[in-house]
Amino acid sequence: MTKKVILDCDPGVDDALAIFLAVRSPALELLGITTVNGNVGIDQTTKNALIVLEQANASVPVYRGMKQPLEKPLYSSSDIHGKDGLGGVNLPESEQKEESLSAPDYLIEMGRKHKGQITLITVGPMTNVAVAIQKDPEAMKGYKEIISMGGGVGTGNITPVAEFNYWVDPEAVKIALEFGLPFTMLGLNVTHQTILTPNDFHFMRIVGGNEGKFISSIHQAYIDAYWRYGGYMGCVPHDSLAVAVAADPTLVETVHCHVDMATDGLTRGQSVADVLNAWNDKPKNVHVGMKVDRERFRDFIFTTLFPEHEQAYIQYKAFLSSQ
Ligand code: RIB
Ligand code: CA
Repeated sequence: MTKKVILDCDPGVDDALAIFLAVRSPALELLGITTVNGNVGIDQTTKNALIVLEQANASVPVYRGMKQPLEKPLYSSSDIHGKDGLGGVNLPESEQKEESLSAPDYLIEMGRKHKGQITLITVGPMTNVAVAIQKDPEAMKGYKEIISMGGGVGTGNITPVAEFNYWVDPEAVKIALEFGLPFTMLGLNVTHQTILTPNDFHFMRIVGGNEGKFISSIHQAYIDAYWRYGGYMGCVPHDSLAVAVAADPTLVETVHCHVDMATDGLTRGQSVADVLNAWNDKPKNVHVGMKVDRERFRDFIFTTLFPEHEQAYIQYKAFLSSQ
């Protein structure tokens, strides 16, 4: 039984890999993509979603979302994902055009149409989700769950305590956390347990045909940024973990606890996860990702992207374990 999903994203290099996985995974039925301002502006994230779908040879409707956060000023991190948001590959626009419905209105429409069936995967700032909740809470109660890449337990990237997606629009996160849908948070504490190395992208380039070459090419500048900012020789597939967990929830161990969102000042964007159950009187509103099965996550990525090259992947794994 495939799981119906909508992917809300801000492509974004790691978003692009997540789109490929959501399109390719036999466990998922990708109904639509909604775009939001985040890694780059809304014009570019929307254009990039269409470009990535064209590269994946996939026909999935794309709905343009909010161009700025609910309250915070506009911000984008183009120095990580490149000015074009796809590692500076500057590909031409896709033939496919975006839909006329806005992302929040699409989310509302689908919440009503597929009551209790859709998993909403968010891998960018949660502005679209919050606007849809504010506009039609009853429709949004129709979603089965939210699986969100964002936040973290005791870690940050855009600040010492805040993760980028949640920092860009903390008010939106607070609305989503308090809304009451089953919510799984895959924060930096768990995404940083994983890494894709230059070898991995070289393997993709060798076995993956044009798709492998595209995925590898958009990640080169991203890997450079990880070396520049964190001394990593590789990059973290943050957004892919959210798609992977939608396809196979057993990939991550979670703690069910209370999570709140700091919206202003020094700790703006910090997800405060009560994993110690210090506030035992507060509602346990989030399943917080704590540990990922790294090997099975890597297997998910490579076998989902290149199912016809499983033997080559087995050979590559044997090479890696011989090093
Ligand atoms: O902090 C990582 C998140 O911020 C990822 O979703 C990445 O695409 C950026 O949006
Ligand atoms: Ca993202």
